[in-house]
Amino acid sequence: MKSRPSYQSSIIKFYQRLDTCKKIISPTLNLQYDNRVKLLFSNPSSIKEFFLDENRVDKLKKEISKKSPLIRAILSKNKRPNFVIDLTGGFGFDTIQIACYGINVIYVEKNPVVFFIFNEFLSRIGVYDIKLATRIKTINMDSILFCDLVGTKFPYPDTVYIDPMFPENYKRKAKEKKYMQVLKTLIKLDDQKEEELFERAYSISNKKIIIKRPAKITPSVINARYPTYKIKARGHRFDVYVK
Ligand SMILES: C[S@@+](CC[C@H](N)C(=O)[O-])C[C@H]1O[C@@H](n2cnc3c(N)ncnc32)[C@H](O)[C@@H]1O
Repeated sequence: MKSRPSYQSSIIKFYQRLDTCKKIISPTLNLQYDNRVKLLFSNPSSIKEFFLDENRVDKLKKEISKKSPLIRAILSKNKRPNFVIDLTGGFGFDTIQIACYGINVIYVEKNPVVFFIFNEFLSRIGVYDIKLATRIKTINMDSILFCDLVGTKFPYPDTVYIDPMFPENYKRKAKEKKYMQVLKTLIKLDDQKEEELFERAYSISNKKIIIKRPAKITPSVINARYPTYKIKARGHRFDVYVK
């Protein structure tokens, strides 16, 4: 019988993973851990702090209801999907909000540092809300490759969710949120392959694909497909493509 890894060996593993991440992490960003994940980043002259902790989860929970734009986009005729695959996980705020509504989510993120940070956050969520944490499964992989596993290693989802980075030249009214600034320091070199991702999402979803877009400018047509409907939110919208 396999024995469970000792507490000490899991701590060693944690520091090994942290070291690997630090080697590739942006020089403007530093991480600290206790019962929460603290991100320190310089931008460009001052140092800012950003926490992934219980307060953050409470805030996300308060925002979510049947009437919130994200949940309205997820539900089909008021019914919950069997589960959702979030192909662009990031710091997992959307994943968490969907899971807060009682829906299981597979979170997929290709960037290893972003993935690492979210997993640390999730393991802390598990301490105070185990039900919420167990609704989320995380995968560190390029989503385009992950989609090939759906149908064999993973069942087909009713709904696939995509939140690409907003275009660099997008002029927003409000200042960009701190977590987005941090995320950008980590993933700016990554390419998004948005059209390919959408096509793969379309092929694996039973019912619908949702794309989060900036409120204005960006056209909704993707690979010659038009959204079935759009749901407005503050500063962004959800384009829903029903199959
Ligand atoms: C705008 S962020 C998503 C934010 C997320 N919805 C949240 O609530 O925190 C986009 C994320 O998608 C990831 N991403 C982009 N293309 C991807 C791909 N092909 N496979 C997996 N992750 C991808 C990026 O690394 C980035 O972390």
